[in-house]
Amino acid sequence: RTKLGVLVSGSGSNLQALLDACAKPDFPAEVALVVSNVPTAFALERAKKAGVPSVVLEHKAFGSRADFEKALVEKLVSAGVEWVCLAGFMRLLGVDFLGHFAGRVLNIHPSLLPAFTGLHAQRQALERGVKVAGCTVHFVDPGMDTGPIIAQAAVPVLPGDDEAALTARILKEEHRLYPLVVKLVTTGVVRLEGGRVVTSAGPAVGELS
Ligand code: GAR
Repeated sequence: RTKLGVLVSGSGSNLQALLDACAKPDFPAEVALVVSNVPTAFALERAKKAGVPSVVLEHKAFGSRADFEKALVEKLVSAGVEWVCLAGFMRLLGVDFLGHFAGRVLNIHPSLLPAFTGLHAQRQALERGVKVAGCTVHFVDPGMDTGPIIAQAAVPVLPGDDEAALTARILKEEHRLYPLVVKLVTTGVVRLEGGRVVTSAGPAVGELS
């Protein structure tokens, strides 16, 4: 099974969705290490409960971004991690990290990218008055939420929605979409080729829509 490293900063509900998927015997991946840059992140409790090793690396404790990223890579490599999933990890990663895990870093973002990048995507969607919102799983490049898009799920924005209601509706789709994408990339059904996402023909393709 492909070894995943999951990077978190907060509640870790997407980590939980990945842990739950990995607990199924036919799932092609397992979580080998959880890394949090926030020592109080609830995600760390989830890792502990699942019996998965975790480590805290506080970016503030490092003199530079390069040093932080070097330490991150070291931890992941020594745990045998092959693919990295950002799951509510609120730091940008640069070339020092991405150079090592080139084309093997995924992120989930709570908007239909390229709309509403960065923080508070759901609030941005409500303020803009869009009628359809959603989430995106994409390959990570050095930009903020800019890498090649793998899959998206849409939800309606309903009259009377506040940020909490829309966030919850989107999260439900995030928890479905992220494990599905992990399955597709770790089995090679979806690949990055020349900076573009390609999908092999086959029954799994239907699962993406
Ligand atoms: C999720 O909604 C995720 O898409 C978002 O943070 C939340 C983390 O929740 N990520 C971003 O906004 C990244 N730009 P979780 O800790 O419960 O998985």
